[in-house]
Amino acid sequence: MFSNSLCAFITVFSLFVRSILCCGPDHSSATPLDQSSLIAANNLARPNRTIIPKKIALDNVRVFDGTCILPPSTVIIDGPLIGSDPTGAEHIDGQGGVLLPGFIDAHCHPSSIAHMQDLAKWGVTTGFVMACYAPELCNSLDNHPGLSSILRSSAPASAPGSVHGNITAMINPSLLVNETGEVPAWMKYQLANLAPDYFKFVAETPGLDQETLNLLVTEAKGHAKQSVIHAADQTSYTQAILSAAEHIHHAPLDSALSQASIETMLQNKQVSTPTLTMMRAISQNSKRNFTAALETTALLHKAGVPILAGTDANLQPGVPAQVPFGISLHDELENLVEAGMSNLEALLAATLKPARAFGLRDRGTVQVGMRADLVLMGGDPFEDIRNTRDIRKVWTGGVEVPLQN
Ligand SMILES: *[C@@H]1O[C@H](CO)[C@@H](O)[C@H](O)[C@H]1NC(C)=O
Ligand SMILES: *[C@@H]1O[C@H](CO)[C@@H](O)[C@H](O)[C@H]1NC(C)=O
Ligand SMILES: *[C@@H]1O[C@H](CO)[C@@H](O)[C@H](O)[C@H]1NC(C)=O
Ligand SMILES: [Zn+2]
Repeated sequence: MFSNSLCAFITVFSLFVRSILCCGPDHSSATPLDQSSLIAANNLARPNRTIIPKKIALDNVRVFDGTCILPPSTVIIDGPLIGSDPTGAEHIDGQGGVLLPGFIDAHCHPSSIAHMQDLAKWGVTTGFVMACYAPELCNSLDNHPGLSSILRSSAPASAPGSVHGNITAMINPSLLVNETGEVPAWMKYQLANLAPDYFKFVAETPGLDQETLNLLVTEAKGHAKQSVIHAADQTSYTQAILSAAEHIHHAPLDSALSQASIETMLQNKQVSTPTLTMMRAISQNSKRNFTAALETTALLHKAGVPILAGTDANLQPGVPAQVPFGISLHDELENLVEAGMSNLEALLAATLKPARAFGLRDRGTVQVGMRADLVLMGGDPFEDIRNTRDIRKVWTGGVEVPLQN
């Protein structure tokens, strides 16, 4: 009862807290390795012995339970999961820090171990890798104890001659979708070769037509997979809404979404990942309207469309903007608060909501039986969302992440 009324107070109070944006420094360095040596290096970084996580009793931590921050208690890390039996555990004093479920970045593009280390160090224990062109590269990022777990998309489906199609043509032209009739075969190839966790399709002008996008989404549903559509302007966003894809990523950089479009998204139960950090970076590089992206996010949130935290982190030369790994998730939390979300809502957008939206039942909350993906921070993010950067310890799958290296 005490904690609930405190909670209500904190939630109301946090509505008034608006943060100042500061751009994080670039913690990673891009390496000019070609893809096969990158894959080899990633695979070599995997330890050649089994890492058995220690059993830990994390004492004196204030758990964020999805609603509020509870009084100090003990959380047991038992192997890869959160446990309940302290027998034989090594005790660690959490010093009254706030314990959150590991953050989930719903849109990023790691390709090296350095990228993965930056994600983990900043408490991002799950990353949705939004463009998997080559299975070997995505496989090389999988199964690294102490690094984040990744969920991979398909290759992004795009049309020949489009901006994204030209990128795909450089990487592997057989991954293009040249006409609607190719969709079923494209889909089967992706499922057999990549085993994607979900599909990624690109709406753009020029680009895939509505009929092709619709068929891609329908086929994905037929294979029990969700679809994520890239849409960064009004026309593309409208296409994405019409396709009824589960997820729309980015936010229009030309003008804010109409109420009619927002109503349709609600009816379609569509989820938005506005990637405001990337939208801001793009608008700083070129004359695009970031205010429109922020406005759309605010309108979607007010209307009740679920919003997820995604950064589009990448250090790829040639894309519209580079965004550093890990620290950018904390930028995105600030951006979401700037778009009108409370601190609590922003935290949920980076933990429980992406887990729910993508059907991951093993993460997103600090509860017995869940993955031991945990972030311990010194400051209280309900008081100031920027306190999420004050990271003291991180565990991913029960393995503690070294914060210095
Ligand atoms: C894609 O590349 C072709 C060939 O270089 C070019 O003509 C076309 O304009 C490019 N498409 C876009 C949208 O830039
Ligand atoms: C689509 O066109 C490209 C050339 O633009 C070609 O390399 C590719 O094989 C075509 N895809 C299919 C499935 O025919
Ligand atoms: C940018 O978008 C905002 C919000 O939709 C709008 O009020 C403003 O007029 C736009 N600015 C330009 C230069 O188009
Ligand atoms: Zn992206």
